[in-house]
Amino acid sequence: MSSGKPAVRLALLGCGTVGSEVVRLLHDQAEDLTARIGAPLELVGIAVRRPGRQRGDLPVDPSLFTTDALGLVKRDDVDVVIEVVGGIEPARTWLTEALGAGKSVVTANKALLAEDGATLHDAATQGDADLYYEASVAGAIPLLRPLRESLHGDRVTRVTGIVNGTTNFILSSMDATGAGFGEALEEATDLGYAEADPTADVEGFDAAAKAAILASLAFHTRVTAADVFREGMTGVTAADVASAKEMGCTIKLLCIAERGPDSTGQESVSVRVHPAMIPRSHPLASVGDAFNAVFVEAEAAGQLMFYGRGAGGTPTASAVLGDIVAAARNRLAGTRAPSESAYAHLPIRPIGEAVTRYHISLDVADRQGVLATVAGVFAKHEVSIATVRQSGRDEDATLVIVTHGAPDANLAATVEDLRSLDIVRSIASVLRVEGGV
Ligand code: NDP
Ligand code: HSE
Repeated sequence: MSSGKPAVRLALLGCGTVGSEVVRLLHDQAEDLTARIGAPLELVGIAVRRPGRQRGDLPVDPSLFTTDALGLVKRDDVDVVIEVVGGIEPARTWLTEALGAGKSVVTANKALLAEDGATLHDAATQGDADLYYEASVAGAIPLLRPLRESLHGDRVTRVTGIVNGTTNFILSSMDATGAGFGEALEEATDLGYAEADPTADVEGFDAAAKAAILASLAFHTRVTAADVFREGMTGVTAADVASAKEMGCTIKLLCIAERGPDSTGQESVSVRVHPAMIPRSHPLASVGDAFNAVFVEAEAAGQLMFYGRGAGGTPTASAVLGDIVAAARNRLAGTRAPSESAYAHLPIRPIGEAVTRYHISLDVADRQGVLATVAGVFAKHEVSIATVRQSGRDEDATLVIVTHGAPDANLAATVEDLRSLDIVRSIASVLRVEGGV
């Protein structure tokens, strides 16, 4: 189909899992894309590390490959730069160069956006250029555009999400089969969900980067990965999963971003990533396998849920293509994407002030007065106990205590004091409980 308009010219940086599917969709949907945009898209170059690498049946002219990404970005005939390489450098250099020169940028690079999104946004403002990054959080799920545009008339109060597919697969498998973490991780690796080095996923770094991006958009405040409290899920045991089941809960690695007053009454933002028990009736509890879901609460809209595939080449490429279409349309219309909205400058609330319920499992000596002593420690730190379950084993007993809501700092002080008691043999686990059990 000929639109009669000159093509919008694209430079693709990276042609791996995501980039190759971007190439495929650009090829397979060329006619529809031209009709939707009002001009054709033309891929003028693809930067990769190994240009001679076999790329299967990818529908692309091999002469487009180059190792000179910066040279490609600088070309005068490039309108839109698509970055699907990842990492901080050299991606930051490429993208600031492109934006500064007025080229539109589409990126899936959550690590860069969470560590130094400010530099990219500043370069976009300076170059009067578009910066789109829908694919950086929750893959295919349209989530950033709703936060960046649709909800801009509202006040978002809380964002709770499962934003890492690998860990959701592992925890869902532990819940379904009773397997331990190691066994479930092995299964995730065998099925290609977990990477050879799964640290970024299981230790929560990947989710923390996504949490920073979500919080920045939701609360009109620059939030970086360093602002996010992070605790991985490697310590979740089969016993924790079983205990959660007894309470009618399941365990998920959650990202939670919320606004509210700090201890001095000043409006602030709290962002955290950690495993937590949630009731099986919670909308996020039924999110299984490697799926992602994000639950957004806003003052006027109420509760909204976004669900879908958070990873994988084709789903992620879908989000990238949506951004390419938006950027191309803007260029043709002479308009721009909404620029960064960070006017609120809300301070970050320390984790110690985050109020949550807790599930604490401890092995104690089974003697008279032990329960009273343990309860006294909770009372001393103003942590109110909701339920206690005890199961005995000869001389020892296991106590499972669930608290009412308490600040994290109070719970940390309680746990420290419990550890110092000689009647406490060990603290088997401390898990947060979210979602009104
Ligand atoms: P891959 O590792 O599969 O692909 C990376 C690509 O970048 C490869 O084509 C590689 O070249 C190229 N590359 C690496 N270094 C350079 C360099 N110095 N110069 C030029 N090209 C280079 O990554 P993914 O496709 O999985 O991820 C890309 C981005 O998308 C990341 O930011 C990631 O966080 C994000 N993302 C990924 C998702 C997924 O499911 N995979 C989901 C959501 C976001 P070569 O092919 O020659 O090795
Ligand atoms: N490793 C990530 C996940 C990929 O498991 O969700 C998507 O960002």
